[in-house]
Amino acid sequence: MPNIGIIGLQWGDEGKGKVIDLLSKDADIVVRYQGGANAGHTIVVQGEKIILHLVPSGILHESKYCVIGNGVVLDPVVLEKEISELKAKGFIKDDKKFMVSGLAHLIMPYHKKLDILRESKGKKRIGTTGRGIGPAYEDKASRMGIRVIDLMDPDVFKEKIKQNLEIKNFIIEKYYGDQGFKAQDIIKQYVPFRKLLKKYIADTADFLHKSIEEHKKILFEGAQGTFLDIDHGTYPYVTSSNTVAGNIASGSGVPPNCIDSVLGICKAYTTRVGEGPFPTELKDEIGDRIREVGREYGSTTGRPRRCGWFDAVTVKRAIKLNGINGLCLMKLDVFDNFKKIFICTGYELNGKKYDIPPMSSYELSKCNPILEEMPGWKGSVIGIDEYKKLPPNAKKYIARLEELLGVRIDIISTGPDRDSTIVLKKPF
Ligand code: IMP
Repeated sequence: MPNIGIIGLQWGDEGKGKVIDLLSKDADIVVRYQGGANAGHTIVVQGEKIILHLVPSGILHESKYCVIGNGVVLDPVVLEKEISELKAKGFIKDDKKFMVSGLAHLIMPYHKKLDILRESKGKKRIGTTGRGIGPAYEDKASRMGIRVIDLMDPDVFKEKIKQNLEIKNFIIEKYYGDQGFKAQDIIKQYVPFRKLLKKYIADTADFLHKSIEEHKKILFEGAQGTFLDIDHGTYPYVTSSNTVAGNIASGSGVPPNCIDSVLGICKAYTTRVGEGPFPTELKDEIGDRIREVGREYGSTTGRPRRCGWFDAVTVKRAIKLNGINGLCLMKLDVFDNFKKIFICTGYELNGKKYDIPPMSSYELSKCNPILEEMPGWKGSVIGIDEYKKLPPNAKKYIARLEELLGVRIDIISTGPDRDSTIVLKKPF
C-alpha cells in the first residue's frame, strides 16, 4: 500500500501524531492537507515530548520529505517558531525536504482577532482554539484570502491587505468596538515571513504527482477528527475544514484513486474539547479519572478535555465516511485497573433507538447512550508490544470493539513512547 491516509475517527486528539511518527520511518513523504495550527500532534521521542501544530510529524525522521498542502491554513508566526524550535533540536537539517504549497492560505492577525472576539463576545460559543481557523477559511471561500504565493509579491500582498482591512476593521471597530489594524504594521510583521517561506514554497501538487510516478510512499496526516468535519461533524460545533478522508485529494492535489488505504485512529475511550454534543460524556469522577490518567489536556490550548466511554455508534459512522481499512486503538493503558469498562452500542431518544447518529446536533445532544459492560483487566498493559502478552480481559475488550465496528484493529498503543505499541499488521 504505497499511499496511506491517517484519519481521526472521533473528535480529534486520538493520537494520530504517534501513529504518523511510527509509520513515517517506512514512508518517503508526509503531507498535511487541512486545518492549521489548531492541531496539536504530540509525539514522545526517547522520553522527550514534542508537540507539532503545523509541520507534519514526519519531520522527526531525517530522511523524509514533509509537505504542507494547499488545503492548510498556515499561520507563519507559528511556523517560524516551530521551525526554529525543530532546528534547535537537530531536526530539519535539509531545507529542501520541507515544502509549503504556494496555494495554502495565510492566517492573518485579523483572523485570530475575529476568532477570539466572536468567541468572547458572541452569543453562542463554539469553543474554538482561537487560532483564526474559521475566519481564514471564510476568506478562502469568499475569495478574499491571501495565499503564500501572494506574500511573495510585495505589491499584490499590500493590495490584498488594504482590501481586507477595509472590511475587517469595519467589523472589528464598529461591530465589536475593538481596535482595528494598520496595513503597514501587518506588512512590517509579514516581510520576514516572505524570506522564510521563500525557502520552502513549492508547487507541492506537482511534487506529489511526480513522487507518485516514482512509486514513492506517501502518508497523509489528517488533523482534528471526523466529528469535527464541517459537513459530517456535529455542526455547528465543528472546525472549518473537511476532516474526512475525501479531503485528502482536494487538500493536497493528489487524485482520489492514488490513495490506496485509510487507517482510522481512535482512543479506547472518547474525548472532545470545546462545546457540542457528546453522548457518552462522563461528568463524574470516572470522567475525571480518565482525564487524569490519560493526561487529557489540549496540546494546543491546554484546556481540559471532556472524557467519556468508547462510542461505537460514532466510530462505526466514521469508518463508513472515511472508508477505513484498518484501525489503530490508542491509549489502551488508560483503562489499566478499571473494574468495569463500558462501550456505547446505540442511542436512545424518546423511546426510539439509533444505530447511526441523528442528523440534528440538537437531537444528538439529547440522546442517551445504550451501554454494554465489559470487565476490566487487573494489571498494567503499559509498554506491552506483543498481543499475546495482553491480559485476557484487554483482549476481550479489543475483540468486542472489532466485532461491533466490523474492522480489524491493526495497531494497539499501550503507552506514549514509540516502543509501547503492538503492531498486528503493518500498514505499508
Ligand atoms: P477551530 O478549529 O479552532 O475553529 O475550533 C473548532 C472546534 O474544533 C472546537 O471545538 C475545537 O476545540 C475543535 N478542535 C480544533 N482543532 C482540534 C484538534 O486538533 N483537536 C481537538 N479538537 C480540535
